[in-house]
Amino acid sequence: MKTAFITGITGQDGSYLAELLLLKGYKVVAMKRRTSLISTDRVNHLMDNKNFHMVYGNLNDSGCLHRLLIEHKPDEIYNLAAQSHVRVSFETPEETTEFVAMGTLRLLEAFRNTCPKARFYQASSSEMFGDNPEHPQRETTRLTPASPYACAKVYAHNLCRNYRESYGLHISSGILFNHESPRRGETFVTRKITLAAARIKLGLQDKLYLGNLDAKRDWGFAGDYVAAMWMMLQQDTPDDYVVATGETHSVKEFLDAVFEHAELDVNEHVEISERLFRPHEVPLLLGDPSKAEQAMGWKPKVKFSGLAKMMYEADLEFVRKESV
Ligand code: NAP
Ligand code: GDD
Repeated sequence: MKTAFITGITGQDGSYLAELLLLKGYKVVAMKRRTSLISTDRVNHLMDNKNFHMVYGNLNDSGCLHRLLIEHKPDEIYNLAAQSHVRVSFETPEETTEFVAMGTLRLLEAFRNTCPKARFYQASSSEMFGDNPEHPQRETTRLTPASPYACAKVYAHNLCRNYRESYGLHISSGILFNHESPRRGETFVTRKITLAAARIKLGLQDKLYLGNLDAKRDWGFAGDYVAAMWMMLQQDTPDDYVVATGETHSVKEFLDAVFEHAELDVNEHVEISERLFRPHEVPLLLGDPSKAEQAMGWKPKVKFSGLAKMMYEADLEFVRKESV
C-alpha cells in the first residue's frame, strides 16, 4: 500500500485529492493546522475511513515537517497548503510569502533530508503568468507575477525546479488554472456568485456586490484537476505541466450563466463595489493544456456552463438545508 502525505487537506483540492487517493488504495496522511473553529467540513465524510489519517502540522514548523515525514515515510507528497486568496495577499503579503514561499522551502528540505526517494507535487498557479499579455499561456510562457501571492508562487515554483535539477529529486509542478467546485471557498468569485444566487432565489439575500467583471479566467472543475496531480507523480520523469480547459470566460459571463440558469435578473440584484477591485489585476488567463494531454492523457471532463450549473444547484441544496 502506497502512502501519500497531503498538506492543505481542509481546502477544496485537498478534499478531492484525498478521495481520489483513497479510491486508488492509498493510505492518506493529511496535515491540517490548528484553527480555533473546526475546519474539516470538506473531509468529515472521510474520517471513518481506516486509511485516512489526519495529523496536526504547519508549513511554518520545520521540526514538525521533518518529524511527520520520518514517521510516515510517504511515497508521494502533495504540497497544496497556501494562503491562496490573491486579493488577501495584498493585505497580508508577509504571511502569504511565509506560507507559500518559505513553507514550500521548509517542506522541500524535510523531503530531501528524510525521504528523498518519494515523489513531490507542487501546487503552482496560472496566477504566476500575471499580466503577461501573451496567450494561451503554456509551460514556457514568461512568468510576470502581479500579486504578492503570485510572486511567492513563482519563488516556490523556481525552487522546485532548482531542487529537481540540483538533487535529482522527483518533483513536478502543476501550473493549474482556476478550478472550482461546490467545495470552493466562499470568497472566490465563482462560489460567491453561486451561493448568493441560491440565497437570492430563496429570498434570504437581496444584493450581491462584486468587483471587476471584465477579468477573464480559464475555469475548470477541481475534481478533474486533482487527477492531473496524481498523474504527474506516476510519470517516470518529473516535469511541469499546465492544467487548464483551453477556454476563457469573463466574470460577467459566469455571473450571467448562473443568473440565467437561476432565472434571476442581474440588474436587479448585482452591484459593483470599488472595494472589491485589486491594486493590480490579472486581466486574462487562458491555458494551453496540450502537454498534459499528450504526455499523460489528461483531459478535463467538465466545462464552463456545466460547472456554473453544478455549483449553483449544489448551493441551492446547501442553502435549503442550512435554512430549515
Ligand atoms: P484552499 O481551499 O484555500 O485551501 C488551502 C489549504 O491550505 C487549507 O487547507 C488551509 O488550511 C491550508 N493552509 C494554509 N496555510 C497553512 C499553513 N501555514 N500550514 C498548513 N496548512 C495551511 O486552496 P485550494 O483551492 O484547495 O488550492 C490548493 C492549492 O492549489 C493552493 O496552494 C493554491 O494556491 C493552489 N492553486 C489553486 C488554484 C485554484 O483555482 N483553486 C489554482 C492554482 C493553484 P485552513 O483550512 O486551516 O485555512
Ligand atoms: N474573489 C473575488 N471577489 N473576485 C472578484 C470579485 C469578488 O467579489 N469580483 C470580481 N472578481 C474578479 C477578481 O478581480 C479576479 O479577476 C477574478 O474575479 C477571479 O478572482 P478569484 O475567484 O478570487 O480567483 P483568482 O483568479 O484571483 O485566484 C484563484 O485562481 C488562481 C489561479 O489562477 C485562486 O484560487 C488562486 O489561489 C489561484 O492560484
